[in-house]
Amino acid sequence: MPTPSPSVPQVAPLTASQIAQFKRDGVLVLPAVLDPDICRRARDDMWETIAADLPRMKRDDPSTWGPITAEETAGFSARRPADGGEPLLSGKGHRLTIRNGSEDLALDLGPRAAWQVAEQLLGKGTVVWPAGLDQSGFATGPCLMDDGAMEGLASHLGRKIENYREAASYTTEDLRVPKTGPVWMNGQGTRGLYCTLPNSPSPGPNWRGSHSDGPCYGRTRLQFAAYIDDLPPASGGFTVWPGSHTRIWEQQWKAFHEQGTTHTGQREQMRMAGGYDALPDPLFEQIKADTQPFETHGPAGTLVLWHTKILHIPGQNKSSDVIRQATIYGYLKTLESLSDALAMDDDGGGIWRDWSDEVRAIDERS
Ligand SMILES: [Fe+2]
Repeated sequence: MPTPSPSVPQVAPLTASQIAQFKRDGVLVLPAVLDPDICRRARDDMWETIAADLPRMKRDDPSTWGPITAEETAGFSARRPADGGEPLLSGKGHRLTIRNGSEDLALDLGPRAAWQVAEQLLGKGTVVWPAGLDQSGFATGPCLMDDGAMEGLASHLGRKIENYREAASYTTEDLRVPKTGPVWMNGQGTRGLYCTLPNSPSPGPNWRGSHSDGPCYGRTRLQFAAYIDDLPPASGGFTVWPGSHTRIWEQQWKAFHEQGTTHTGQREQMRMAGGYDALPDPLFEQIKADTQPFETHGPAGTLVLWHTKILHIPGQNKSSDVIRQATIYGYLKTLESLSDALAMDDDGGGIWRDWSDEVRAIDERS
């Protein structure tokens, strides 16, 4: 594995009170901590890609930033790269995605800039370094091949994977993926740029689409959303239910241990019942009933750290002239620091078992 060597300016370490807040809420907003020059280059890069693949959208004319039509969506799908992965630019409705997450610019912007903070939170020497692409243009890194990972591969690799449930080995393997494939699954790239176009529809009174990422097991503990442009309130900011991380973590592990409830098992149950509306998750419903959601926003370069199990939703973009531009990344614990057996078992160790001594020592009520 390449030696971690962040050559980009580092986000300052968190204070004890910031760590306490992160433990309590499961989320922490760090306004404008990322390099403004890298953010500017990331915006320029985004508009270059749009100019090439969706030229009807003009950078200087927000009236051209309307939703992606069905024909446009179909056109993007036809442009899947031959060696697998997704089209560089794709989208549907108000969501526009650019899969540039394995490029050095995207990695320098967020994952490498917040490296010091990631090691502070998860433990020095325990985090997979986001090296990006190798000389062959592919991204290779460790991936725990669980059922959630199989789902991710099936939907993002661009080649059909048969019987992905059977293929899950629940062991960590070196996974090699093409540059616009699921490079976040092996820690080598971000999810790319997730944009929400102006005037996006309301999720409705019950926050349709709110969810917690992936299974409780696995190697991801800490994720972030980074805004490469100014994001005013009510413009599609990542929205979370503070404190939900602990409740979901505990409930999902309990269900896994007591009933063997896996990630895909739970989703299958929901699908068979007729979708989420027919079989809502009782805990998610309870959280939405007793907790006020918190919508993040901030100037360009704002970094939002969150515990991977927190209940969240991309916010509604009510603006008419702002595109929500966020890149999302999840740090992975290395195999050396977290065995497969431990990644598949919380072992009664509590939600902060796999975090640094510093994090575990801080009282979240302080
Ligand atoms: Fe999510």
